Amino acid sequence: MAFPATRMRRLRRTAPLRDLVRETRLNVADLVMPLFVEEGISQPVPVEAMPGVSRLPLDALAREAGEIAALGIPAVLLFGIPADKDDEGSGAWADQGVVQEATRAIKAANPQLIVIADLCLCEYTSHGHCGLLGDEGAVDNDATLELLARTAVSQARAGADVIAPSDMMDGRVGTIRAALDDEGFTDVPILAYSAKFASAFYGPFREAAGSSPAIGDRRSYQMDPGNAREALREVQLDVDEGADMIMVKPALPYLDVIRRVADATSLPVAAYNVSGEYAMVKAACAAGWLDERAAVLETLTAIRRAGADIVISYHAKDAARWLQAT
Ligand code: PBG
Repeated sequence: MAFPATRMRRLRRTAPLRDLVRETRLNVADLVMPLFVEEGISQPVPVEAMPGVSRLPLDALAREAGEIAALGIPAVLLFGIPADKDDEGSGAWADQGVVQEATRAIKAANPQLIVIADLCLCEYTSHGHCGLLGDEGAVDNDATLELLARTAVSQARAGADVIAPSDMMDGRVGTIRAALDDEGFTDVPILAYSAKFASAFYGPFREAAGSSPAIGDRRSYQMDPGNAREALREVQLDVDEGADMIMVKPALPYLDVIRRVADATSLPVAAYNVSGEYAMVKAACAAGWLDERAAVLETLTAIRRAGADIVISYHAKDAARWLQAT
């Protein structure tokens, strides 16, 4: 009996040959580390469901950013937790706001580290929703756009290199682009959270950012997990409105969506390996059920293989260290 001629087994036998034929590589240059900065605290506050992750005061944040840069990680994704919240989320666009101050501090100490400012009102609103609430208690899409634009401009003014709207309001990318351009920030790109699913895996983040909705949930503005074609429509809308990079979030339950988005757009694609995905791995590793290094490097490589150019992960620092050691 004749077998098809393949020498794949031989190619896999030694590390140099395995490397030579590897299709997808995970590089430290692909990684983005999310960071939480909180106003009015003097010590880091650990996030219970995310071992190793803390809400940081400004001085600790600047040190952490230095470590991240020293590991060769090119970018951080910055989330702010203000001391005070209100109905509108006015802390989001305050010139001395927590993200604005943090951006200045990071850029002053690490000019080459890319600061991606997450743009959303949910950390700043007293009700915890990503937009203004209208009379009916529903999010008022159009009224929210103006506040997002204001926030984007104030983040860019503080020195943010990339603006990343994560609210999922319709029309936000176009509105933010126009506002940035009007203020002279034509070179500041937009990383659009285009395909953001209404996911159970954001649970630990909401503890970290203090952004759980006080009433209701986010299913009216975030996507239904059953929909993949809708993700392609959302991506197309954001591309048409001027997005420069596209995000799919979460990553692991949506690897197929990452692939379809990567095939459908020529823009760089980012995937967000979110808080709940991190928490799952951490819990299993703490119980001794998984080997953390192997599980994380496999996961992050799989996200790249699915089509992500950029991988946002709370494991970014660990991964950078492990990649250095291999
Ligand atoms: C919303 C936002 C969320 C995350 C990033 N930006 C949560 C949400 O929509 O409730 C989640 C990230 C994570 O879980 O790690 N501003």
